[in-house]
Amino acid sequence: MERKELLYEGKAKQVWSTADPDLVIQYFKDDATAFNAQKRGTIASKGVLNNAISERLFLLLADAGVRTHFVARPSEREMVVRKLAIFPIEVVVRNVVAGSLAQRLGRDEGEKLPAPVVELYYKNDALGDPMINDSHAIVFGLATRADLDTIVSTSLRVNESLKAFFAARNLMLVDFKLEYGRAADGAILLGDEICPDTCRLWDVSTGERLDKDRFRRDLGRVEEAYQEVYRRVVR
Ligand code: TMP
Ligand code: ASP
Repeated sequence: MERKELLYEGKAKQVWSTADPDLVIQYFKDDATAFNAQKRGTIASKGVLNNAISERLFLLLADAGVRTHFVARPSEREMVVRKLAIFPIEVVVRNVVAGSLAQRLGRDEGEKLPAPVVELYYKNDALGDPMINDSHAIVFGLATRADLDTIVSTSLRVNESLKAFFAARNLMLVDFKLEYGRAADGAILLGDEICPDTCRLWDVSTGERLDKDRFRRDLGRVEEAYQEVYRRVVR
């Protein structure tokens, strides 16, 4: 399947049209940004690794009955997916305190939560993706009550599947971000990607961070972390 027209270029991916109006191609780049693109860099082979890791996780979720946009991975950096109208909402699910939650509530990173915390953010770069609640999402027309019910319940199912899958590979799923969209037939599908850019993954034995926090926080050995996740998840 051939890439036709560049529809959209994001920080880590491009989206291309194809001859089939229901399908687009996500092209995975090595570019990395953090803090709303104030920090920029590249992570060698990240696009190739994230594409393969995402494919593995989308297939796992499909097996668990989660509807995703994934169709095929025709090449190292290309993923064919269903075309979606993306809800301008980022859903973050947390199992362990880290990152912005630690900051916002003054908790120590590493505190295990008694139940998952689900957060919504408004996808808007100019505003730095502010946190919102259900009421904001509904009143400002980002999604309906029914859409949110589907999105949140699906995200909790995704969490259960991913947590178990990573645990079997000695990785703790600390938190992650998901995006959803509506396909032409009206179905709400899980979209975007699931990879070390969008998840926090800590080695269970050593606590070592094997995700994008190595880039965000200048911890070094960034590529090695992505390779290690690839090795545990894909191979
Ligand atoms: P946070 O602690 O910075 O809010 O991040 C929570 C999770 O969401 C973490 O796994 C990283 C992911 N994330 C993204 O995928 N994109 C983003 O723009 C941000 C801020 C976080
Ligand atoms: N990708 C995001 C950005 O550049 C932030 C992050 O992942 O930390 O804004």
